[in-house]
Amino acid sequence: MTVQTAGRRMRRGVEIQDRIGSSRKEDTAARALEGLLGSDKHISSEFFYDRHGSRIFEEITRLPEYYLNRTEKELIAEAGIRFADGLCGADIVELGSGDSSKISIFLGRASRGARASARYLPVDIDRSAIERSARDLKQNYPELRIYGIAADFSGGLEALPPPERRRVFCFFGSTLGNLLRPAALELVRRIAGSMREGDEFLLGLDMVKEKSILERAYNDGAGVTRRFNRNILKVVNALAGTGFDPAKFRHLAFYNKREARIEMYLEAREQMTVSTPLLKDDIIIREEERIHTENSHKFTKRHIEEISSYAGLDIAGIFTDKRKWFSLLWLKKKALK
Ligand SMILES: C[S@@+](CC[C@H](N)C(=O)[O-])C[C@H]1O[C@@H](n2cnc3c(N)ncnc32)[C@H](O)[C@@H]1O
Repeated sequence: MTVQTAGRRMRRGVEIQDRIGSSRKEDTAARALEGLLGSDKHISSEFFYDRHGSRIFEEITRLPEYYLNRTEKELIAEAGIRFADGLCGADIVELGSGDSSKISIFLGRASRGARASARYLPVDIDRSAIERSARDLKQNYPELRIYGIAADFSGGLEALPPPERRRVFCFFGSTLGNLLRPAALELVRRIAGSMREGDEFLLGLDMVKEKSILERAYNDGAGVTRRFNRNILKVVNALAGTGFDPAKFRHLAFYNKREARIEMYLEAREQMTVSTPLLKDDIIIREEERIHTENSHKFTKRHIEEISSYAGLDIAGIFTDKRKWFSLLWLKKKALK
């Protein structure tokens, strides 16, 4: 049997529910533009991830400077030894699944039988990333059932099938750190709200460390992160018909110690006026004006305790590397008294 979803032919055992394709393009464009009219210019980091942006992000994960990916993968391999057979009969929900290469490590530690009885539910704003990763996973693990959800985090949680099976939530890549701290707390609380006793949650977080190591990770020598950052303007152009020339912007990424986060900006090399058929006013950008494109918050033990207690989750364990650069939290729903 071949499952056909949203007009595209998928492999047997793969289904994708699309909550992005059905939203109005003008609404998405309006959201992309809303931060460009005032003085404090910004574009939400979710707009990095079109087909092209997801591929550039995968290139970032292979950079020598980008220790996050390597370190977390080692921790997942270690955690996998403990968890793998607990996947039996479970729904594995991964938020911001990207290329699914991390869950693949995890699945590789499980027996074929455990994989055959589990179901993988990747949730990502970029449908093309779900399609590609489903293809790769099916090649390695043909027995795995995949039910993808193309949606933002909130829509993805709403679209989950009823909790008839045990759930293992995964949120890797320190993607939680891309949200402002209050929004991050709320998202973890929502995930916890979808959990029942016995469910588990694996959360990967990048830890506070020396500024030079952090800044190097977001300013690689090959300029891949610069390409990734500038690609957001191409996404906005495609959505809103703006004529931004990405080459007219410098890539800036630096550590804000007070907020414990890397901030990423595009800085205009010259003054420009950009119009779009969707707005009656032009977007005016001054020379050296910055567009804020991403925050990557870093975490401490105190943040970890705050997140788990706010969400009502127990910390069952923390996997960390020798240098304590990255933490993989193993969280459980608190038992009802
Ligand atoms: C930093 S990447 C991490 C990818 C992968 N989890 C990893 O660790 O390599 C963030 C991922 O989350 C997705 N994403 C970003 N914002 C999102 C949102 N608001 N809702 C759903 N997915 C989102 C992106 O498409 C991307 O795949």
